[in-house]
Amino acid sequence: MKDTRILLIIGGGIAAYKSCELVRLLRKEGADVTCVLTEGGSHFVTAMTLAALSENPVHTTLWDLKNEVEMGHIQLSRQADLVVVCPATADLMARMAGGIANDLATTLLLATDKPVLAVPAMNVRMWQHPATQRNVATLRADGVAVMEPDEGAMACGEFGPGRLPEPPAICAEIARQLGSTSKPLTGRHVLITAGPTHEPIDPVRYIANRSSGKQGYAIAAAAAKAGAKVTLVSGPVNQPTPPGVTRIDVETARQMAAAVDAALPADVAIMVAAVADWRSAGEAAQKIKKDGSGQVPPLQLVENPDILATLCKSERRPPLVVGFAAETNDVLEHARAKLARKGADWIVANDVATHKMGGEINVLHIVSASGVESLPELPKDAAAALLIERIADALA
Ligand code: C5P
Repeated sequence: MKDTRILLIIGGGIAAYKSCELVRLLRKEGADVTCVLTEGGSHFVTAMTLAALSENPVHTTLWDLKNEVEMGHIQLSRQADLVVVCPATADLMARMAGGIANDLATTLLLATDKPVLAVPAMNVRMWQHPATQRNVATLRADGVAVMEPDEGAMACGEFGPGRLPEPPAICAEIARQLGSTSKPLTGRHVLITAGPTHEPIDPVRYIANRSSGKQGYAIAAAAAKAGAKVTLVSGPVNQPTPPGVTRIDVETARQMAAAVDAALPADVAIMVAAVADWRSAGEAAQKIKKDGSGQVPPLQLVENPDILATLCKSERRPPLVVGFAAETNDVLEHARAKLARKGADWIVANDVATHKMGGEINVLHIVSASGVESLPELPKDAAAALLIERIADALA
């Protein structure tokens, strides 16, 4: 998020206190943040807090002559890369949807020519009210990105959808929105493997694993959004091909190895696939029959080629090679060992004991020679956006 400018509009709801944490996270990521505090928002957080955290003046009114002379509201609405409304209250979204411009926040939102992200937070009944849902649909049709609120206990004592997502998740969504506008991987070829492999035992049976391909596909989508040419070598999964991605379907580890080799050269390789370590030594040409004797057929295994290790040793090794490690215990130790053994630049480790394979959320730990960066717990697409941002930074 380095060198990006965010205009953060803070509406009047109890969740406004979380926007202070959001400002802190965005600053940590290197973004320049300018806050606009609505009249309602100022009842929950102060301009002083936001000014201290953002290290920028805070704007609160249309009618401040000094502010208007120094920076007119039109200029303020146009100088950002992204406008974020957080929390977006029912009232603020209703005024946005209606094109009403009766304070500084809504005037900026009407005047801006920049992408807008709204992060709603309100009582569950207010969120579910047909008027609010109508307004959200109108905003989306107008091109505003609206995050889904979280579900859970609320400050008002009720339970349901309407909670503000946690600041790290909002931060990741902001990175994703910025990624789709700034395209830092333009001109780069990103090679990604995803999904499991299937290793046949006979024409009807195979060895496989629980990989769904979701994380690899999310990374491919994020890389394409960031402007890269993306080749996705995929094992058998039930995932739609992300827009702008060239997908090559394979079944076995050996087919995956050949497809990776054929896709070179690349600027980055991200090996997310859960490649089967072993395959059956001899694939039976016909279905192995149960003959009623109680005898089990011998299943002899042989090791599959290690695609990642082979790539790292190859003459055509991409300048940045990222492996993945799904572990159930001693996650970081295993990842460090894998980094050395395979010769990758980074190993992205995830704990599949706490976040089961095939799930919707992940906690990624980026392990490299310079240490470990643990990303927050995030939906897989948001985690992918952050990883792609790190990769773009590393290539820059
Ligand atoms: O050895 P392990 O399977 O735990 O290592 C995981 C990493 O190595 C992943 O990036 C995976 O895609 C890659 N890998 C591979 N070929 C194999 C096994 C794993 O490329 N045969």
